[in-house]
Amino acid sequence: MSSSEIREAFLAFFESKGHQRVDSSSLVPANDPTLLFTNAGMVQFKDCFLGTEKRNYTRATSSQRCVRAGGKHNDLENVGYTARHHTFFEMLGNFSFGDYFKKEAIQFAWEFLTEVLKLPKEKLWVTVHDDDKESEAIWFNEIKIDQTRFSRLGDKDNFWAMGDTGPCGPCSEIFYDHGEEVAGGPPGSPEEDGDRYIEIWNLVFMQFNRSKDGSMAPLPRPSVDTGMGLERIAAVMQHVHNNYQIDLFDNLIRYIADIIEVKSLTNQSLRVIADHIRSCSFLILDGVMPGNEGRAYVLRRIIRRAIRHGNKLGVQGSFFHRLVEGLVQQMGDAYPELRQKQSIISETLLREEEQFARTLEQGMKILEQDIAHLEGSEIQGETLFKLYDTYGFPIDLTADIAREKGLTVDLAGFDVCMEEQKRRGREENQFITDYNESLNLNEQTEFLGYQQIEGQAVVQQLIVEGGLVDAITQDTKAEIVLDKTPFYAESGGQVGDKGILFGSDSEFEVIDTIKLRDAFLHRGIVRRGTIKRGESLSAKINTHERQEIALNHSATHLLHAALRQILGEHVEQKGSLVDSQRLRFDFSHPVAVTEEEIFKIEQLVNQQIRANHTVETQLTSIDQAKKLGAMMLFGEKYGETVRVLKMADFSVELCGGTHVKQTGDIGLFKVIGEQGIASGVRRIEAITGDSAVEYTQKQGWLINQLASSLKTDRLSLSEKVEQLIVKSKKQDREIDKLKLKISASQGGDLLSRAVDVVGVKLLAVKVDGVDAKGLRDLSDQLKSKLGSGIIVLAAELEGKLSLITGVTKDLTPRYHAGNLMKELSAMLDGRGGGRPDMAQGGGNNLAKLDEALAWVERWVSEQ
Ligand code: ALA
Repeated sequence: MSSSEIREAFLAFFESKGHQRVDSSSLVPANDPTLLFTNAGMVQFKDCFLGTEKRNYTRATSSQRCVRAGGKHNDLENVGYTARHHTFFEMLGNFSFGDYFKKEAIQFAWEFLTEVLKLPKEKLWVTVHDDDKESEAIWFNEIKIDQTRFSRLGDKDNFWAMGDTGPCGPCSEIFYDHGEEVAGGPPGSPEEDGDRYIEIWNLVFMQFNRSKDGSMAPLPRPSVDTGMGLERIAAVMQHVHNNYQIDLFDNLIRYIADIIEVKSLTNQSLRVIADHIRSCSFLILDGVMPGNEGRAYVLRRIIRRAIRHGNKLGVQGSFFHRLVEGLVQQMGDAYPELRQKQSIISETLLREEEQFARTLEQGMKILEQDIAHLEGSEIQGETLFKLYDTYGFPIDLTADIAREKGLTVDLAGFDVCMEEQKRRGREENQFITDYNESLNLNEQTEFLGYQQIEGQAVVQQLIVEGGLVDAITQDTKAEIVLDKTPFYAESGGQVGDKGILFGSDSEFEVIDTIKLRDAFLHRGIVRRGTIKRGESLSAKINTHERQEIALNHSATHLLHAALRQILGEHVEQKGSLVDSQRLRFDFSHPVAVTEEEIFKIEQLVNQQIRANHTVETQLTSIDQAKKLGAMMLFGEKYGETVRVLKMADFSVELCGGTHVKQTGDIGLFKVIGEQGIASGVRRIEAITGDSAVEYTQKQGWLINQLASSLKTDRLSLSEKVEQLIVKSKKQDREIDKLKLKISASQGGDLLSRAVDVVGVKLLAVKVDGVDAKGLRDLSDQLKSKLGSGIIVLAAELEGKLSLITGVTKDLTPRYHAGNLMKELSAMLDGRGGGRPDMAQGGGNNLAKLDEALAWVERWVSEQ
């Protein structure tokens, strides 16, 4: 059975058991800062388990793409060393959200394995959690398994959790016995880590929600989450003992072996590369770009590990990006988006390869030297850190190299260095939660602001410093939750509204509005009187600000669409900030946007503004929105009903923000900045309306000013500046020549001041009007005029001394200009040194110069 046949058989089987077939979600979990990557099929259903999201089905099945690298479930280090670990894999799963529980889950799994896939029962081995008597009884009494092929295990093996927090529960696992010829023992035995008994299916009985403090609250209703690695079950069905030999990998590995010219298809590094090209391509496909933080850094680590394994196999130059083609051949049918994004994936990898190539060689040298001088068998924390920090060697890369050489790494030492570095001010990772998250707030605020700029509302809650209170008095900083409000709460990049809440005898200034779950928090300060819970207030937003925000927000949509037209469909929104001053839009694009492209983008956006499209909004289902071709944000979680915002056919996007009525309201759009903010991510800043008009006016004014000070007109301005630059360069050259002349003319006079010290001609003098370069020229001239002798010159420049010493070649066996300079400059409270025939330095103590020059005579006589 091919992998695709197995995938289809699984999904069809569970459909026949009343499960809804659901598409794989992105590798970047939607709106879930607790998780680095989608690491299991259940991730997209997390809220269904928690009971906070309702869908119109309670049974689901999916084939989910997963990455297990970084975070809680991390298999990166095992890849290449076992037959069954991957950073990227597909997980087949069936799920029950408070529908069936243990009994059906076990029955379904057994039926699929033994009746659909027809696996012999005697090849299967079952485990349960040692407290779970219920599952044990089902396996024994209902399924009637062979009790000699059964183990009870503890939390380490049979308790599954998505991450440090979130849904979790005991589990029951099914293993496949690959047979005696493979090394390894059954689950729970000391040899369990071998490749003989492979876990193929994990049935998790979701029962708890774990919080940050480790406490576990029961879920609203017991649920089921199962996961079967497609690659593992394919290995079983295709009678191979190693996942890397299944159909999905076989062709890919051949393709890679061909490109990097490796003969043995079972080479470990080859397998690592095959695994890594899958995870890297899919991560980039899902919008992750290599970088130094969080997800981006994990991606970078995997890429670098792959490159290093390529180098181990003797590949010269970049190769990794070329493998994307091979992956597309294998998986492009199952994942058409992979084909669409092939070139951007490949370009991203190439850039990363080029960047790493610059430091890889140097880093390897450092590491090899360190290993050669190693006492003992452990690489020190400082070396690990240096490699990491200076040469971009991720720690697991160094650990991987160490392991090949039978060495260990001092991880604790590395951590100490890392902590030290962090303490010196590196940003902590972004996963911080606001104190408000822990507030038990279940209010829902109705948003009136699409139609209204003011309205009457009732105070539901008052929050002061993260705690609920009944009343707030003058000067208190607080957050007010209302039942309904015209204030927009920050989301989708649009900032929250400002304004005033008026009570009968009080006033609250709102400086920001934010969302906490479904409640809107009006953040600000009581300016007058007292405000109580339950009281009715009149809420008024600052309409001027709101209008400016709307211009910028609508312009952002036009910009987004224009970027995709002009730069290409690979442009994806990576971030956005819209306030009353400007708009900021971050997007994926591999290189800087050229000035010419910016011109075109501005033109296109301004054309759309002048076309004065009516901005239409429509509430619709997510499926209908997809049909309309609405752009959706990556990593954003949308409910069943969404708001589609349309500006003719030019821009169709999902958006909850507040916008202009007609695009013409925007007036004018002007880009004021473009820069890179991370590898593969660009940022454009722009302004609209009055600000844009004022900006262009100022620019015009500035140009006029410049033209008038240069006594020319606007059109000839750049020509004029060009002429001035040429002229100034010419003048610089003239000045250099003149300086040389002056020093040459001084040379003759100076020569007469040379004295004879113990038979050596010495010229130690102060000269005027020369800089350090003039001093060097002068000393060269004097040396050649003197024929044989010692020269010491000092010049005063901006309150400091510039010094030079020179010794003609015939005298260098006896006199060292560098040593002389060291002592001389030290006497003058400065520093200096150099070669035996020429040295330079500086001094700070002008008052001591005469004394120092006199001392030189003594120095000459004493050598
Ligand atoms: N979520 C479970 C796992 O990943 C099924 O093993």
